Amino acid sequence: MHDEIKEVLITEEEIQEKTKELASIITEQFDGKFPLAVGVLKGAMPFMSDLLKRVNTHIEMDFMDVSSYEGGMRSTGEVKIIKDLNTKVNDRDLLIIEDIIDSGLTLNYLVDLFKYRQANSITIVTLLDKPSGRQTGIRADLVGFEVPDAFVVGYGLDYQEKYRNLPYIGVLKPEIYS
Ligand code: PRP
Ligand code: MN
Ligand code: MG
Repeated sequence: MHDEIKEVLITEEEIQEKTKELASIITEQFDGKFPLAVGVLKGAMPFMSDLLKRVNTHIEMDFMDVSSYEGGMRSTGEVKIIKDLNTKVNDRDLLIIEDIIDSGLTLNYLVDLFKYRQANSITIVTLLDKPSGRQTGIRADLVGFEVPDAFVVGYGLDYQEKYRNLPYIGVLKPEIYS
């Protein structure tokens, strides 16, 4: 599996260091509150796990499974709900957790949905931000790393459902997807 990666962009150590920084900001921001963390499946799973175990305040966890890439390399532009939250969001302080913001369509959709459902506040944390891909005005409140315009995989990010279990963020060899 590792031999299918051309280049490691962000190492496991760098990711772990960054999750500590982000977790301490989140701890401060939500101290004394009881936020609802919304993990966006499937990509956010490894990041959410590493991040939240370092947040030192009460936090509720729930998951939403949405998909717009259908395993491919380009967004279909249409966001599908595969699994909705089990929790009511009205009057809650939400922390949406994402692995990457690319076009921004997924988050745009979720933010609109949670506003409609009358969340009290919405905070977005993403491990990766790819500003070059943006098709909406959405931005995260907390960003781990900015990534260049390359197809990145690992640590939750897939290509055709593979590579999510890499402990780092890497760029695939072009022969894998061409
Ligand atoms: C990926 C990624 C983000 C979203 C970002 O999810 O995990 O959720 O796309 O792209 P966008 O900003 O262009 O919307 P995907 O739809 O591939 O589902 P997955 O998390 O199950 O892989
Ligand atoms: Mn996703
Ligand atoms: Mg995907």
